[in-house]
Amino acid sequence: MTENIHPIFDKLLTRADKENFLNQKSKVLWFTGISGSGKSTIAQGLEKKLFSHGYFNQVLDGDNTRSGINKNLGFSIEDRQENIRRIAELSKLFLDAGVICLNSFVSPTIAIRQVAKNIIGNEHFIEIFVNTPLHICEERDVKGLYAKARAGEIKGFTGIDSPFEAPQKPDLELLTENETIEESIAKVFNFVLPKISLT
Ligand code: ADX
Repeated sequence: MTENIHPIFDKLLTRADKENFLNQKSKVLWFTGISGSGKSTIAQGLEKKLFSHGYFNQVLDGDNTRSGINKNLGFSIEDRQENIRRIAELSKLFLDAGVICLNSFVSPTIAIRQVAKNIIGNEHFIEIFVNTPLHICEERDVKGLYAKARAGEIKGFTGIDSPFEAPQKPDLELLTENETIEESIAKVFNFVLPKISLT
C-alpha cells in the first residue's frame, strides 16, 4: 500500500530547525486517567502557563478530536486503540513542527498507551498519570456520565464496566485529591521545564 508513496522528509526543514526557531524542544505530555480525573483541566491550565513562559504548545483532547478527525469512533477497546493511534500520529506531526503537545486522553490500557509510545518514540513521550480515585470522579460527575453508566444507559464506561489499567511506571503521577489544580499544574511545569528547554 505504501509502495508508491515517496517520503518527502529529506526535502523538508528538520525538526531541529523548527525547535531552534521556537527556542524549545518538542515533547508529547500524555495525560492518562479516568473521566473526570482532571486531565483536561490540568492540560488547559498548563497550556497557558507554558505559553506565558514562551513555550508554544497545543492541547489535544476528546473535545477537539472526537468531534472531527475521530468522529467515526466509539468506545470499544478497538475504537479506543484506533483513537489513540491516530492521536499519536497527529502528535508526531506536531513534534516535527517543534510544537509541545499536551494530550489528555483516558487511554485506558497499558497496551493502548504503548501504541502511542511506540509511534511517538520513547524519548519524546512523557506519561503523566492523573490519579484521582473513582469515587471522587463519580461524586463530581461533571458531565453526568457516571450516573448514566451506573443506570446502564452507557455501556462500557471506563472504571464502571470497562477497565482502566493504571500505568506501572509513569514519568509523573499526580495524586490530585491531595493537591489543588494550581499545585498539579506547577508540578508538571517544573517537571517538564528541563525537558523542553533548549539551553
Ligand atoms: S479513550 O478511551 O479513547 O482514550 P477519550 O479520552 O478519547 O477516550 O474520551 C473519553 C471521554 O469521552 C470521557 O471523558 C467522557 O466524557 C466521554 N465518554 C463517552 N463514553 C465513554 C465511555 N464509554 N468510556 C469513557 N469515556 C466515555
